[in-house]
Amino acid sequence: MPKNSSQQPKIQYVANAPSNIAFLKYWGKDGKQWASNDSISMTLSKCETITQATDSSDDRVYLHGEYLNTDSKHGRKIYRHLQFLRTIVGVEQALEIHSHNTFPLACGIASSASGMAALTIAALACWTRSSNLTELAAAGYPLAKLAALARQGSGSACRSFWGGIVQWERGDSPATQRTYQLMPANDWQLADVIVCAQSPVSKDISSSAGHALAQTSPLFTVRRQGMPEKIKHFRQALQQHDFVQLGMLIEAEALEFIQVMATSTPPLSYLTQDLYDLLAFVRACRQRDNLPAYFTVDAGAAVHIICVADVAEQIRQKIQRNFHNFMIIVDKIGAVPRLHSRPAGQDSN
Ligand code: DP6
Repeated sequence: MPKNSSQQPKIQYVANAPSNIAFLKYWGKDGKQWASNDSISMTLSKCETITQATDSSDDRVYLHGEYLNTDSKHGRKIYRHLQFLRTIVGVEQALEIHSHNTFPLACGIASSASGMAALTIAALACWTRSSNLTELAAAGYPLAKLAALARQGSGSACRSFWGGIVQWERGDSPATQRTYQLMPANDWQLADVIVCAQSPVSKDISSSAGHALAQTSPLFTVRRQGMPEKIKHFRQALQQHDFVQLGMLIEAEALEFIQVMATSTPPLSYLTQDLYDLLAFVRACRQRDNLPAYFTVDAGAAVHIICVADVAEQIRQKIQRNFHNFMIIVDKIGAVPRLHSRPAGQDSN
C-alpha cells in the first residue's frame, strides 16, 4: 500500500543538492547534452538548492515561493525536465515542487546545476517513495543514474552528485558519458570566495545558447586539441595537491573560456568592467601580497576566487575593502546531495 494514500498525510520528499564551480569548463556540445570536452569541477557546500516534491493533481512549480508559469524563463526548463523524468520512470503522478536556493537567484551563481540535481532527486524519490538515497538506489536510481538523468536538464548538474572534485568524462558517445569523483571533499580544504552582483542581472544569452555559439569561435578547435594534455595536468596537480599548479591551470582555463566567448559570433561576455578589474586585483594580491588565490568565472556576472580555506577570510576582507558594489559569499568544497522525507507541513530544512 503506498504511503501517500488518501487516509495518510501527504509525504514531502526533500532533496538538497550542491552547486559546483568548474575548474575546467564544459563549453560547447556535440549533440544534445553531449559535452564537447571533459570538465572538472569543485562541489560547493553552502551554495545549494533545496527542493521538495509532493503528489499533486497537476504539476505546479514554485521557486523561492513564487509560482512559475510553464512558459516563463525558469519554468520552461523545469516543467520540461519534470515531464522528461516522468516518461523515464513511466508514471503519471503529477507533482507539486517547491524549490529554493541558499544563494540569491540570478546574481551570477549558476543555479541550474544544483537546481536540476535537486529536482531530479526529489521527483524520483516522490514517485518511488524513497526516503533516502539508499532507498532510491534500491528502487533503481543509484547516483550514476540520477546524474545521467539530471544532465538532460542541465549538463553541469551531473557533476553535483559526487562531492569533492568531480570529472565529467565525455566518452566516445553520448551514452558512454560518465561522472565520477576525483578527490573527496575532506582531502583538500579548498575554498571559493564568490564575488557576485548584489541584485538580479538578466542574461542576454543563456548558457545553453552560449554552448551553441562556442563552435563559432576560431579558438574552439585549438581548445579541443589541447584538452587531453590539459586534463592530464589538472589531474596531476590534484593528485599532488600542488595548489600553485592547480591555480595556474584554473586561471589559464578561465581566460581561455573568456576568449572563446569573446571570439564567438556574436561575441559573448558575462563580466562587467568591475569584475574584469577584480581579475587583475586577484593577480595583484598574489604577486604583491603573496596570497595564494586564483580566479575563475562562469556564464554569469560573478568571479570565483579559488584558494585554500585558511586564507579565504583574508581574501574576503581585501575584496570588501576594495570593491563596494558586490555581494561576497565564502564557500568551501562540499559533499554529496542529501535526501529525506517528512509529513507535509513540516517545513524546516
Ligand atoms: C560555463 O550546464 O548551464 O557553467 O547543459 O545547456 O544547461 P546546459 O548548460 P550548463 O552550462 C554550464 C557552463 C559553465 C561551465 C561549467 O559549469 O562547466
